[in-house]
Amino acid sequence: MVSSDKDPREEVLQAWYMDDSDEDQRLPHHKEPKEFVSLDQLAELGVLSWKLDADNHENDPELKKIREERGYTYMDVCEVCPEKLPNYEQKIKSFFEEHLHTDEEIRFCAAGSGYFDVRDCNDAWIRVWVKKGGMIILPAGIYHRFTLDESNYIKALRFFVGEPVWTPHNRPNDHLPARYNNMSRILWKRMLATMLLMPPRKIWFRLIVVRGTETLCC
Ligand SMILES: [Fe+2]
Repeated sequence: MVSSDKDPREEVLQAWYMDDSDEDQRLPHHKEPKEFVSLDQLAELGVLSWKLDADNHENDPELKKIREERGYTYMDVCEVCPEKLPNYEQKIKSFFEEHLHTDEEIRFCAAGSGYFDVRDCNDAWIRVWVKKGGMIILPAGIYHRFTLDESNYIKALRFFVGEPVWTPHNRPNDHLPARYNNMSRILWKRMLATMLLMPPRKIWFRLIVVRGTETLCC
């Protein structure tokens, strides 16, 4: 029997592991065969996502709730295309440089589409395709980059807690507390998930080993 419980977010957000090709960054860059990544897997990396009402975002109660709960007091609109973005070529280049931020990156696609690439905990690139109605939050400290897709246009709403800071910290910047915190969060989450499947004596052993070595890999 086929389940009809399709996640509505999948209509506006899809993710997959990228190939290693140097071809045009606007191409999908699927692996062969394709290797999709679920939105739950993204959530394990701290990448959160929603499907919202792009045509009525001013009055969308779900967006209002997210903003209130997460304290997003600032909002502006950023259109990325040669006609509307000053210094287009330079900006496109800098968006595609691998970087991190010390705060969340929050984007809601009100029109068009684009690719947000994020590193997984093994340092592989995951390409997240965000289309009209898709909202994505990248956690502070995750290495990522952005590019337009072949449609060459996105209208994104940007949110922030308080006064916005858009500073990108290009890789490597592993010494920043945001990076350390991001990796620690993933490690602890994974370890707790593993421990739930372990007998109690092994749990204590695992805790002692991790505390003793300050391991940050996952
Ligand atoms: Fe960024």
